[in-house]
Amino acid sequence: MAFYHSAGNIPQKRHIRFFKKDGKSLYREEHCSSRGFSGIYANKYHIHEPTRVLSISEINAPADVSWDAAPHQYYHFLTDEHPGGGDFVSARRTYLYNDHCAVSIAHVDSDAEYFFRNAYAHELIFVHKGTGTVFTEYGRNSFSPGDQIVIPAGTTYQVQFDDFSKNKLVFIESSTAFEIPRRYRNEYGQMLESAPYCERDLRSPLFSEPVDKTGEFRLVLKAGPRWFEHKLDHHPFDVVGWDGYLYPFVFNIRDFCPIVGKVHQPPPVHLVFETAHFVYCNFVPRLFDFHPEAIPIPYFHSNYDSDEVLYYVEGEFMSRSGVGEGSVTLHPAGMPHGPHPGKIEAAIGKKETKEYALMIDTFEPLKLTTHVRDSMEEDYLRSWLPG
Ligand SMILES: [Fe+2]
Repeated sequence: MAFYHSAGNIPQKRHIRFFKKDGKSLYREEHCSSRGFSGIYANKYHIHEPTRVLSISEINAPADVSWDAAPHQYYHFLTDEHPGGGDFVSARRTYLYNDHCAVSIAHVDSDAEYFFRNAYAHELIFVHKGTGTVFTEYGRNSFSPGDQIVIPAGTTYQVQFDDFSKNKLVFIESSTAFEIPRRYRNEYGQMLESAPYCERDLRSPLFSEPVDKTGEFRLVLKAGPRWFEHKLDHHPFDVVGWDGYLYPFVFNIRDFCPIVGKVHQPPPVHLVFETAHFVYCNFVPRLFDFHPEAIPIPYFHSNYDSDEVLYYVEGEFMSRSGVGEGSVTLHPAGMPHGPHPGKIEAAIGKKETKEYALMIDTFEPLKLTTHVRDSMEEDYLRSWLPG
């Protein structure tokens, strides 16, 4: 996160006695750190010891099946084709993954009574459809379409929707934190004037009163490919106060202010967050390039270091035919990609685009699951042929 935040009640200094209302028993301080003790951190104050667990048992991992024989080719697949269903955890279907990244889609049609924690992966949840609230130990954030909810690894959370008429989430997991790009910040960490978003666009959690309940509470914990059920003897959201830099936050794609140029600007102008192994970008409505002879859509591109993934949110996408809401294209390294036939000519003279899309460029090859095989457009690889 970009800045310091505190909420609820915290003691005047760290690591000193902090008494409950009875004046005798102590709140339990938990130091949540990253990169050992060198990265950002938070200090949380619990009513109960956060280590109190009744039982731990392994449970079945989701039934996503790797498609190991997937050809190295262009892909277009439709994530609404086989929507499935379930709660904010069980509805996830992973389409693309590698050791550092996973892209999953969830059509959520029920709430869960349990809590979830991802031990090894940071999560970015893009809300494509639906409204609701995400609850964490740090508080709550209401969400609506376009919100991008960043949840640090190790955070216990739960998602509740307002209704189940039409909900869709895109989960992007990362083995390292979603960082605000260094080039968007000054030497003190403050967002620069030239950055496409600033601190006011980042929504910190609203503090929620601690839940002081004992009993039996289920927590589903994902530890890489293995999943576990923890039974806690207390409600995990028992935090009376916290402070620091490490906490979930929300940024809406509509708050991204696009940077445009006289001629076509490369994808780094769309950068939102970077991780050690991939970048995450937002494409938003913007004015096109204003050179009188500009071609306002991308040129053909060979990205020698990346697999490029685009998730289409809404609006007509400027350089591709046949893609729509919920489409994903994957253009792997080693193969040039670019505008579909006729798109360059059609773009000349256009003044603006109204597209919304997400882009993930990974620095290591992506693997596919059979969800891609089962929802892909077979002919996409031939879609650049004339006629
Ligand atoms: Fe590209």
